[in-house]
Amino acid sequence: MKRALLPLLALPLLVGNASCSETEPRKQPPAVATIVYSGNLDGELEPCGCSETGNLGGILRRAGKLAELRKLHPDLFLISSGGLLANASPRDRLKSEYILKGMAAMDYDAIGLQWRDLSYGVDFLKQAALPWSASNWREKGVFAQQRRVERGGVKLAFFAWLDPESSPFRRMKGEHGMVTGHPDRLRDELREANRRGALTVLSTTLEAARAEQLLPLQEVDILIVKSAYERYGEPRRSGRTLILQPGSRGMRLGYLHLELDGRGDISSWRHEVIPLPESVPDAPSLAGWYEEYNARVKAAYLANVEQRRLQRSGQSPYTGAEACRGCHLKPWERWSESPHSRAFQALEDVGKSFDPDCIICHTVGFEKPGGYIDTRLTMHLLDVQCESCHGAGREHVESKGEKPTPNRGWGREKICSQCHTRPHSPEFDSDSYWERIAH
Ligand code: HEC
Ligand code: HEC
Ligand code: HEC
Ligand code: HEC
Repeated sequence: MKRALLPLLALPLLVGNASCSETEPRKQPPAVATIVYSGNLDGELEPCGCSETGNLGGILRRAGKLAELRKLHPDLFLISSGGLLANASPRDRLKSEYILKGMAAMDYDAIGLQWRDLSYGVDFLKQAALPWSASNWREKGVFAQQRRVERGGVKLAFFAWLDPESSPFRRMKGEHGMVTGHPDRLRDELREANRRGALTVLSTTLEAARAEQLLPLQEVDILIVKSAYERYGEPRRSGRTLILQPGSRGMRLGYLHLELDGRGDISSWRHEVIPLPESVPDAPSLAGWYEEYNARVKAAYLANVEQRRLQRSGQSPYTGAEACRGCHLKPWERWSESPHSRAFQALEDVGKSFDPDCIICHTVGFEKPGGYIDTRLTMHLLDVQCESCHGAGREHVESKGEKPTPNRGWGREKICSQCHTRPHSPEFDSDSYWERIAH
């Protein structure tokens, strides 16, 4: 690795070298670099503040601290190993939206994509301009293979490896194979970056030992491995590579001061973990951001209360399939043997039963008045049921079949195409699919 000379230091050092010996290869002067890094946020916007010790970190303080650090080190590199979003509860979607906004305000140089960042799909990420990188993503032009940054005379090339084995999309139709498990292209690109004299950084959610087996670390200066819970690990060296382990939940920042030798390899490093206690001022650049988030949470809460009120007072227009069973035993039996009656389990199997983008086709009446809310309040509206196709049935039931079901006259195509869309059911064929569920 060759490194560009630092303009200010270059002249006197070169003179000094030349007078020592003419035969030795000329060494370039050392360079220094400052890297500030962070790991998984796992959907944490702000610390809870329930206890003194838990009240550490958060996006506002992080942004405030970064502004201070940038004053001291204008050339610092700011990188993240990703894992920002979460989808463990229905509220995480809104949080994720604000996490993306907050991260965008901090001006990161590179962020490694993790599977959890795809919780709400690729398009969801486009609402904020963030420097994602996913080096083994198959399709071209979706995510950057690498992020190149040059600052203070130092070139940095950032790569991120998504582990295909831990993909939550493995079992979904048409969604597998988003990434390749072969590190050949990554190796080539790392080599090329080394040839350009760049400091190479690779981020992954693998543990260090597994990364050492699978990934071409002989080409990597800095490896960032799977985040530890809250606390940063001590860096350690393995061959050429310095291995970093960030802490999760956004409570701290990692600070790395590097000295690079004449070949551009890391000759020494100093590592610090920067806490973010209450004394760190919130960033003015994010003024209003948290208030806006809170207003959205409140509005969502009130809408939810109204939903529950309708459900509780028995006014829901949906009844669930049990209410149809008595008068339509044959259709009910056919349905209960069909995959539709297990559609929610399919979401649980892939850990997506909390994602509104998935729930909408795998339950009854989601986001409609009186429709599915969650597994506790609306157990009877899980899965694809009669009312997913025939419409809300309470009036029909209460009139003992006098009043027709709402979707009467829709026709089969119109009914099925609510959910059997091209992306979600590429092999859909009206006749053969109907045969399998006809009642
Ligand atoms: C537009 C409606 C729709 C949405 C939205 C949707 N699905 Fe589906 N899903 C379907 C349909 C229809 C099928 C059946 C496809 C087929 O077999 O032709 C299906 C099948 C599946 C299966 C396969 C079940 C099996 O056992 O083969 C899984 C798993 C699944 N979906 C998960 C998800 C996840 C996760 C999401 C959210 C990211 C999602 N779905 C969003 C309609 C949808
Ligand atoms: C996946 C969609 C879907 C689901 C789920 C579904 N149906 Fe149907 N159902 C249809 C369609 C489409 C027709 C019209 C059939 C045709 O094209 O001849 C139909 C027809 C019927 C009919 C009229 C049959 C006739 O001969 O007039 C009854 C009654 C009925 N369904 C009851 C139910 C009940 C009860 C359930 C739940 C236990 C149920 N259906 C679930 C799509 C569905
Ligand atoms: C108390 C008995 C009873 C219950 C409960 C009942 N139905 Fe019916 N249903 C009928 C009768 C009777 C007819 C025939 C009406 C006609 O042909 O004019 C009928 C017809 C239908 C039809 C075909 C005509 C139409 O309106 O589309 C569908 C579909 C249907 N029922 C779906 C359902 C679903 C879904 C449920 C549960 C939400 C349900 N039924 C519950 C008695 C019942
Ligand atoms: C409310 C959404 C929804 C509607 C409407 C719907 N489906 Fe489905 N369908 C699904 C989902 C979700 C699955 C996947 C269930 C699973 O495998 O767990 C599925 C699976 C199926 C399967 C099994 C496919 C497989 O690969 O095993 C058939 C067959 C099917 N649907 C037929 C139909 C037909 C025919 C219609 C229209 C009359 C229809 N569906 C309407 C959501 C829907």
